[in-house]
Amino acid sequence: MSKKKYYVTTPIYYPSGNLHLGHTYCTVAADAIARYKRVQGYDVKFLTGTDEHGMKIEEVAKKKGLKPKEYLDGIIKTVKELWKTLDISYDYYIRTTDEKHKEIVQTIFQKLYDKGEIYKGTYEGHYCTPCEAFWTESQLEDGKCPDCGREVILAKEEAYFFKLSKYQDRLMKLYEENPEFLEPASRRNEMLNNFLKPGLEDLCVTRSTFDWGVKVPFDDKHVIYVWIDALSNYITALGYSTENDEEYNKFWPANVHLVGKEIVRFHAIIWPAILMALDLPLPKKIFGHGWILFENDKMSKSKGNVMYSEPIIKLYGIDALKYFLLREFPFGSDGSFAREKFLKRVNSDLANDLGNLVSRTVAMVQKYNDGIMPQPSVNGEYDDELKDLAVSTPNIVEKNMDEFNFSVALENVWKLISRTNKYIDETMPWVLAKDEAQKGRLDTVLYNLCETLRIISVLIRPIMEKTSLSIQRQLGIDNAEITNWESTKQWGRLDGGIKVNKEAPLFPRLDIEKELERLSIENQKFFELKNGVKQETKEAEEIEDYITIDDFDKIDLKIAEVIEIEKHPKADKLLVLQLSVGEEKRQVVSGISKYYTPEDLIGKKVILVANLKPIKLRGIESHGMILAASKGKKLTLATVLEDIKSGAKVN
Ligand code: MSP
Repeated sequence: MSKKKYYVTTPIYYPSGNLHLGHTYCTVAADAIARYKRVQGYDVKFLTGTDEHGMKIEEVAKKKGLKPKEYLDGIIKTVKELWKTLDISYDYYIRTTDEKHKEIVQTIFQKLYDKGEIYKGTYEGHYCTPCEAFWTESQLEDGKCPDCGREVILAKEEAYFFKLSKYQDRLMKLYEENPEFLEPASRRNEMLNNFLKPGLEDLCVTRSTFDWGVKVPFDDKHVIYVWIDALSNYITALGYSTENDEEYNKFWPANVHLVGKEIVRFHAIIWPAILMALDLPLPKKIFGHGWILFENDKMSKSKGNVMYSEPIIKLYGIDALKYFLLREFPFGSDGSFAREKFLKRVNSDLANDLGNLVSRTVAMVQKYNDGIMPQPSVNGEYDDELKDLAVSTPNIVEKNMDEFNFSVALENVWKLISRTNKYIDETMPWVLAKDEAQKGRLDTVLYNLCETLRIISVLIRPIMEKTSLSIQRQLGIDNAEITNWESTKQWGRLDGGIKVNKEAPLFPRLDIEKELERLSIENQKFFELKNGVKQETKEAEEIEDYITIDDFDKIDLKIAEVIEIEKHPKADKLLVLQLSVGEEKRQVVSGISKYYTPEDLIGKKVILVANLKPIKLRGIESHGMILAASKGKKLTLATVLEDIKSGAKVN
């Protein structure tokens, strides 16, 4: 019988700098899934790689005085080293600069063109260079990129378009009929409400203002939009549409694409639409995970708060890091890597609970039975409770791993660990050891402890391979039949008579105060090594986020009174405001219609950026911008505390 197959992917990373802790999150999760499926006996394909085209990469290489490929070859080496340090068990590493990938992307583009899914037109719109994303007017937030909040540039050029709008109904139907296609549910709602319901527009899929990309096969003035190039990796890596397409036939459709929340849009709307246009099967699931913050703040090099994985691993090992990332917060939500929380968890869950259980068990077998694991003989109180929990835990873990609930899966293993520690306290082997008549009972207690540890070692293996193997070595187990996944569901698979071997403590207890400092210093050193500057202690003028008073003086802020308002005829999100600014009249278009009706604002004083370059927003001239504060879904216009004449300067 052929083996069951499983195909899991991570996003392919932009190698525009060193990957930080946040970047490793998805890969750690994908690795856990790949290992879990392998230990369950699946034939697994685990794909990761790098997304190496686009303007951003071209710019980074140029800044370093290198050709893109030269820059890329160097940085890809460091990405691969990072995955080695994290012991990531990927089966294939794709680079979008691989010849094979580029050829298949061209074939895909040609197929779409031949099928009439791509047509030539003119692109006029907004492009966010850091995100490599095009945005329509209505998608911008305050004229800025809705994903990263940075400035967008106006682009107008001859371009090719993919008929994305055509797939709106099919995509809505897909979400409705297969809710498991996009998880967690919050991401599905976001896609429906923010993109599908407002209506999809055709997607510009070529660029002609730079050429670091895959050329359009029939028009080499154009390069293929980097997201089309990148998304295709999931099938080019399998040899789609080549002579060697066995892997494609074997592994496609993917079981899951794991992606960060801000790139769900590309994976859950554009990618399935392309596959539909190609008449190819869709991936079974897109899972949009949350973001890792650092000490509750978004990681940013310019803010000087980036945490890297390497220093954590150097000090506390891979397993401690992987355990924390997958245990501390649900995979679908944002979570913070806070140093203290991390160190406390290492002490409580790893050193105290698991580490102690292993070392106490092995030490007792050595002390009370000459290092030989006994056979059980006399059953007693507490045994059934322990056994029942031990054999029911694997099913709970399995269900949660299958649903990407890593934290709940681990929580349940730790419930079993706690129950086992309690079993030691309840049965008191050191008391039994004093009484020769209790030898049979002592044997059973020691056996039960070893047998539970065997089950635990298999359950944690997908996430904590090193720890798992150390436990198995200490118990003297090297038989695959009792360390596969199915064996965890059966009690009593371990045979007595094996010699146990004590190893160094799995997780030595940490002095939190000392370690907080050590971890900060190591991270600092790593940052300096990689970036050539210090973080946190950077001189004020080195921080990109600061502006000088001269910079600020360039902005002409004025009080303006709202005198007339109309809805924008072409864009629901926009209002067209007529303002009086002293003697002058101004027209400003603002994306606030979701928050204010015209009646709310007539006669109100607002703050106007008066010297902003005028632009046309969906055909209507906007001469300035009014200031507003926003957080999450809330937005409020900025105004002044007491009344003051319009035209007054704000500074
Ligand atoms: N190149 C695209 C992906 C193309 S896939 C066909 C890309 N690359 S990226 O390098 O910017 O991001 C890669 C992944 O890292 C994304 O899934 C993103 O969400 C993730 N993360 C980047 N910072 C992160 C955190 N701080 N926390 C968790 N994941 C985050 O997007």
